Amino acid sequence: MKIRSLVSIDDLTTGEIMKILKLAAEFEKDPVQEILHGKVVATLFFEPSTRTRLSFESAVNKLGGKVIGFTDSSTSSVSKGETLNDTIRTVNNYVDMIVMRHPIEGSARYASEISTVPVINAGDGANQHPTQTLLDLYSILKTQGSLDNLNICMVGDLKYGRTVHSLLMAMSRWNTSFNFIAPEELRMPDEYKLYLDNIGLKYNETAELQGIIDQADIIYMTRVQKERFSDPIEYEKVKNAYVLHDHMLSGTKPGMRILHPLPRVNEINPDVDSNAKAYYFEQALNGVYTRQAIICTLLGLK
Ligand code: CP
Repeated sequence: MKIRSLVSIDDLTTGEIMKILKLAAEFEKDPVQEILHGKVVATLFFEPSTRTRLSFESAVNKLGGKVIGFTDSSTSSVSKGETLNDTIRTVNNYVDMIVMRHPIEGSARYASEISTVPVINAGDGANQHPTQTLLDLYSILKTQGSLDNLNICMVGDLKYGRTVHSLLMAMSRWNTSFNFIAPEELRMPDEYKLYLDNIGLKYNETAELQGIIDQADIIYMTRVQKERFSDPIEYEKVKNAYVLHDHMLSGTKPGMRILHPLPRVNEINPDVDSNAKAYYFEQALNGVYTRQAIICTLLGLK
């Protein structure tokens, strides 16, 4: 039997995505269920995380499973020189599923090709973060009532932000109008614009935040990814490119919601947090239900 992993959002059909979102809604109503009794999930985090790791672990715990793993590869045998190949071939003997975050693009695909158990990509470098995308889709559907005909403004680090790359690929399945708002140095990579060109979806690119956000159904803010810059001076130049303040939201649509995968640094001023349009902490909560749905789907338990 083929092992079902989730490495890229394109590993799922639109029907499968909608099924996961429906299942997530069921878990939101009834989150504690003994579906994973006797199952063990490994969380292997070679890069820091708060939301992804803890929401996966919360999801497994609520489903009656157990979690093992590491949050810092320096405490694993990787620090002695063990390869990713050997780590995966060892850990897959102990668990029913591996959730892995790694700084190298393509590492999750590589792990999924070696592993005898499903591998979930919890972020591979600047490439993809498909489970974040599923919780983003869940948050968009919940707040907008539909995934179709929406205007999405993606703001900030569109070059290195893996969450916007996965979200673009997912939302391109519906009739989405994209606005890409980024400084010159952090523009959306050509490969993703080509992806939209090939399916005939239009997008607009600008460096200006004011005005354009008034058209938005979703403003998707992102952090400038300091850890991906080889030159700290280049990071300093763009780190405060956009800062969203409460007063900037006065002309935006009443139903518009602000999403952010978090963590934030400076890009959303705390005065936005009390605005009803701020949705990023609810979005993080949605991660638990969505990840419950993903785990059960990949293990064939729902
Ligand atoms: N959104 C997200 O990936 O957050 P963490 O880095 O805290 O997991």
